[in-house]
Amino acid sequence: MSESLHKVVIEVNGKRREAHVPARLSLVDWLREELRLTGTHVGCEHGICGACSVMLDGEPVRSCLMYTVQANGHRITTVEGLARPDGSMSVLQDAFCETHGLQCGYCTPGMLIAAQGLLNSNPNPTEEQIRDAIGGNLCRCTGYQQIVEAVELAAKRMREAK
Ligand code: FES
Ligand code: FES
Repeated sequence: MSESLHKVVIEVNGKRREAHVPARLSLVDWLREELRLTGTHVGCEHGICGACSVMLDGEPVRSCLMYTVQANGHRITTVEGLARPDGSMSVLQDAFCETHGLQCGYCTPGMLIAAQGLLNSNPNPTEEQIRDAIGGNLCRCTGYQQIVEAVELAAKRMREAK
């Protein structure tokens, strides 16, 4: 017997997307395999590593722990949606490059989402607040220091640009 499908309407990076999906299709699989938004990475697949982080209505969530149907009617932002409208990198993405906040890059989309989520609500975070915001995202390469520096640099530039 074929699995029944459920209609969803989800705004992804500013675009309305309509689909019919199985009830148990994870959000990360839908984003990557159906929409080809492969910037969102899959790591542990059980909520530990943060590689699959996306924003749900502006708040970072683990897309491996959500079913696509749970995002119905909501707004999703993936790492692709952080870029500027012309496709160039955002202030935060630039800062990660400048401070060497990435090496292999596997954790980077999730780190960017976590950091952007923080900066959206707190334009002048302390080091402790930055460490707390990225505390649920694992990085095997950088030792985290340069990631913290990237977020501090981006916050400073965003404040100066206002
Ligand atoms: S893949 Fe989702 S938290 Fe690790
Ligand atoms: S840069 Fe390699 S896991 Fe973070």
